[in-house]
Amino acid sequence: MRTIAQISDLHFGRHDLTVMEDLLNSVNDNRPDLVAISGDLTQRARHAEFAESRRFLDRISQPKLVVPGNHDIPLYNVFARFLTPFTKYDHYVLPVGHPASFFHDDEIAVLGLNTARRFTRKNGRVSIEQIAQIGRVFRDVPQKTFKAIVTHHPLGMPFGEAPLELAGRSRLALQAIANAGVHLLLSGHHHRALSGSTAEIAGGGSVLVLHAGTAISTRVRGGDGNTYNLIHIDKERVSIRFMEWKVGQGFCESRLASYVFSELRWWPL
Ligand SMILES: [Fe+2]
Ligand SMILES: [Fe+2]
Repeated sequence: MRTIAQISDLHFGRHDLTVMEDLLNSVNDNRPDLVAISGDLTQRARHAEFAESRRFLDRISQPKLVVPGNHDIPLYNVFARFLTPFTKYDHYVLPVGHPASFFHDDEIAVLGLNTARRFTRKNGRVSIEQIAQIGRVFRDVPQKTFKAIVTHHPLGMPFGEAPLELAGRSRLALQAIANAGVHLLLSGHHHRALSGSTAEIAGGGSVLVLHAGTAISTRVRGGDGNTYNLIHIDKERVSIRFMEWKVGQGFCESRLASYVFSELRWWPL
């Protein structure tokens, strides 16, 4: 059994200090095996915001896997945006992440992919090289190992949900992801907590997608508050506890979604 805490869209610069302290307490109390942080650590990619996000990351003792989001590239400084888009992210955040954005133990293998791009203001993209990387990285991982990918921009929608902007080349990436036997995709960006199997691949159903809300920022959307996801993985069973912040209570479980993998697809329980 493994537990992954997925934290997303912190947006330091537009964050709430009380919610941040409660998040640190909740994550550290739950002692996850891995903390996956799916981008938008800052609001405007400023030095002060990155420094604050670094201090936050340093207070989490568990292994961390971090990918950047579109807000982690400078927006208004066009020279920095186009010439050195990830310099600040690399300086402040990269040292705490897992080497090569890949975490692997006896039960889970998790790959982080950067979908943030300097030429698109908000949207993301998967490169041809990253699609090849998916096949390469998971080829040597044992079949019984649970496989997951972390991106900022979603690659798929839960079945039945209206489509939101997905990362460019997501269909091509999803086919490679299904071929590689990847079970779960973790993403952020839309600030909405959703889960379900994705229907966007031929054959469908073999890949579970989990979108995260904004963990500590005031940029909440769609009636969701501040949330993060606690994912319990026990072989072919996955339970997702949606942890929502409440005044005076901190982060508490607000919903539970459970799935079982059978006959090459995910079924809700
Ligand atoms: Fe965001
Ligand atoms: Fe974003």
